[in-house]
Amino acid sequence: MWPAAQGARMPGGAVPEDTIRIFDTTLRDGEQAPGCTMTRAEKLQVAHQLMRLNVDIIEAGFPIASLGDWDAVHAIASEVGTQPGAPIICGLARANEKDIDSCAGAIAPAPRPRIHTFIATSDIHLEHKLRMTRAEVIATVSRMVAHARSHCEDVEFSPEDAGRSDREYLYDVLRAAIASGATTLNIPDTVGYTMPDEYYALIAGIRVHVKTAGEGVTLSTHCHDDLGLAVANSLAGVRAGARQIECAINGLGERAGNAALEECVMAIETRRNEFGAGTRIVTRELVRTSRLVSQCTGVAVPPNKAIVGANAFAHAAGIHQHGMISNPLTYEIMDAEMVGAEPTALVLGKHSGRHAFRKRLDELGHSLGEEELVVAFGRFKDLCDVQKVVSQAEILALIAGLRGSAAVS
Ligand code: KIV
Ligand code: ZN
Repeated sequence: MWPAAQGARMPGGAVPEDTIRIFDTTLRDGEQAPGCTMTRAEKLQVAHQLMRLNVDIIEAGFPIASLGDWDAVHAIASEVGTQPGAPIICGLARANEKDIDSCAGAIAPAPRPRIHTFIATSDIHLEHKLRMTRAEVIATVSRMVAHARSHCEDVEFSPEDAGRSDREYLYDVLRAAIASGATTLNIPDTVGYTMPDEYYALIAGIRVHVKTAGEGVTLSTHCHDDLGLAVANSLAGVRAGARQIECAINGLGERAGNAALEECVMAIETRRNEFGAGTRIVTRELVRTSRLVSQCTGVAVPPNKAIVGANAFAHAAGIHQHGMISNPLTYEIMDAEMVGAEPTALVLGKHSGRHAFRKRLDELGHSLGEEELVVAFGRFKDLCDVQKVVSQAEILALIAGLRGSAAVS
């Protein structure tokens, strides 16, 4: 059991205690996934849908990456960011003037812009990628966060590879970022290496050693899924006091992806009491958003994907189907409608039992007597041995000719 959520809250932070901000990075980290690039029109379409979903922040892209990305971020800031009740529109920038200035220009049309700047803090990145000393990185953070603040009041700072960074050094970097005006501190597990208890301790340690409380600074999670732990780590971060989750629709993101937005949100909403907090997401838009992102990126959603997969609310086993017919609470912890999915389906196949078979016949207007049902069910099972699922038309065909059948087509 995790340490109780109480006492692990963030007093006086920018985000109310009982609200978890959802920062969607589908259009930035998600788009960085191999083969996931989107056109300007597709990015705009997704951004409009993210607004319907009511995310708090849209990370619209990485403006310095290409003219096309700058243009898409600018278009999202102009078209989506200016609407009443629009989310904050954020752009990513490395910790240098050129990136930050480009980002500031791209997000400028939005009344609520955010610059998200980052630099790595793990020794492995300092030595092999940045070729900078620890002191040089801290000095850069101070200058570049201040530079970002000169453009925009809302500045997020990320110490890339925080999960593998030396803790004391990480605290120094974060203190420098706050001193220069960072309003959100995002803590990336860039390579998806940490375990949930370690990520909990990471966020809890920052809360103790870095003065975020009372400073109007929000702590944020950003977890990659290399070991399949992105959602678990994000939720552990929330338990430890983070009040923003960075996540992406369908779990898209670099390599194995980012924390899946729909999973983080539904875990929190389904277990609100456990978390003592909720999100502002309009959950019935989740499936629609997932399908749109899948269409725009060309990346199919696996049927067994939690919340938005085709099988998420489908039941095939006889025992489960029997339970579902008696009371859906037996095998479902969420209502399909709540996430915008089609109503629960009892899929007829070789694992189905007589209860589900009879229910389907009733729905089709064929109430068979006991003996007829035994025969029909036998035929159904024979068919199931040669094919995976049995359609409505096939059920009608296999009861054809049975005595007492109301109408046989
Ligand atoms: O994974 C990561 O470290 C990132 C940062 C840019 C926040 O995506
Ligand atoms: Zn990332």
